[in-house]
Amino acid sequence: MSKLFKEIKVSDLDSEKFIEKKKKEISKIVGKDRKAIVALSGGVDSSVVTMLGHKALSNRLEVCFVDNGLMRKNESDEVVSIFKELGVTVEVIDAKKEFFTALKGVSDPEQKREAITQTFYKNVFRKVIESSEARYLLQGTILTDIEETVAGIKRQHNVFEQIGIDPKKAFGYKIIEPLIEIRKDGVRKIAKALGLPKEIYNRMPFPGPALAARVIDEVTSEKIEIVREATTILEGELELEDTGAFQYMAILHEDKVTGMRNGKRDFGYQIEIRCWDSIDARVATPTELSWDILKRLSKRIATEVPGVVSVTYNITTKPPSTMEAI
Ligand code: XMP
Repeated sequence: MSKLFKEIKVSDLDSEKFIEKKKKEISKIVGKDRKAIVALSGGVDSSVVTMLGHKALSNRLEVCFVDNGLMRKNESDEVVSIFKELGVTVEVIDAKKEFFTALKGVSDPEQKREAITQTFYKNVFRKVIESSEARYLLQGTILTDIEETVAGIKRQHNVFEQIGIDPKKAFGYKIIEPLIEIRKDGVRKIAKALGLPKEIYNRMPFPGPALAARVIDEVTSEKIEIVREATTILEGELELEDTGAFQYMAILHEDKVTGMRNGKRDFGYQIEIRCWDSIDARVATPTELSWDILKRLSKRIATEVPGVVSVTYNITTKPPSTMEAI
């Protein structure tokens, strides 16, 4: 599959040369005196693209963080303050209502992804672009996103041209993708070279559809709140451990199960924990977390997250699993 696309392997990646080349490319495409917008989520991919764009265009780059209501606790404040330190002003766009409306009544995983894609690009970003002088959107698509979408495994929210969609025709603006030849390990190398802080270059991947990728069946604000709370506990606990994991996540199941609390029946939610060892997300194996950690996670999630009566740990490999639940 990777033969279809030009790949720069991390061992062949000369960070300084790559940065200079991309700065030049971005400046050339956007053009003198013209503006561009970047969609920053705070993940390592979009952070690298933001810094490349900032270096190339300075204040001709508008940096937007879309608050889709599906992000983790305090995520927008943290991203804004990290980038403020780097001299980059981030505008937060409140689009919670648009996303929850688009997700109402949608259960199918691919339809959920499609609803998020359409809301992000057609609804939210089209308006942002129309009200600015920008005609380009910079985004952090990487090679793995394209491969999985083209292979029909998962429709990654940010892949268009490679599957025959012309963003200009579909959304009214063009998209620039400076990271399309590299994978996550390459992006981390560039992030370091760009002087991004450790909390960014080591940041765990987080999917574009955000916590909506971790709610099985229909996404509602109540369910997002449950999975958000479980995520806060999981991330807080595992950050303190030296797991070496590539990524970990909490997933909220649709099926409820019978539990008991204070001697009474409590028919409640199930949270599934996944924790992955992987190099580049193409294949992955479950991290062998200690029984002590698993017990602590289960106890905290089942007592601190309202409505949860069952916590499980997934021990399947990718494949046949994928890393996210939808
Ligand atoms: P899967 O679930 O496909 O995930 O095994 C592989 C890696 O990709 C991330 N992921 C996404 N990232 N948009 C993204 O930007 C998406 O739609 C998306 N879906 C999955 C996932 O978190 C993992 O790191």
